[in-house]
Amino acid sequence: MPKLIVDGFGTFEVPAGKRLVNALVDEAGVDQLHACGGFAKCTTCRVQFVSGAPDEMTAAEKEIRMIKGLADAPDIRLSCQIVCDRDMRVKIISRLTGTARKDAGARPADAVEPPAVWTKP
Ligand code: FES
Repeated sequence: MPKLIVDGFGTFEVPAGKRLVNALVDEAGVDQLHACGGFAKCTTCRVQFVSGAPDEMTAAEKEIRMIKGLADAPDIRLSCQIVCDRDMRVKIISRLTGTARKDAGARPADAVEPPAVWTKP
């Protein structure tokens, strides 16, 4: 099982293939925002990679990164568009705590949505 290191939270074993956003919530216990429910529409699920960032990116992540001005921040990635297929270390930069939101967002599905079309960043 891949190892997920979340700075300030700990180190966790994660089922291979699990969406990173759901692993942050389920395994790491992070109040990670995911306002659009994991559809690559909001970018509130963003995390900062310290190591282990995937080489590939979904076309949906690539598109929203351009729209939201994240194209020049390669270490900032959308956790709803990443599956845990390797060891990763991330910093939490977008959580419910400290916001006025009533919740973190609808639970993202188990599979990447929209259906993943993998590209190079
Ligand atoms: S972009 Fe909205 S939850 Fe990932």
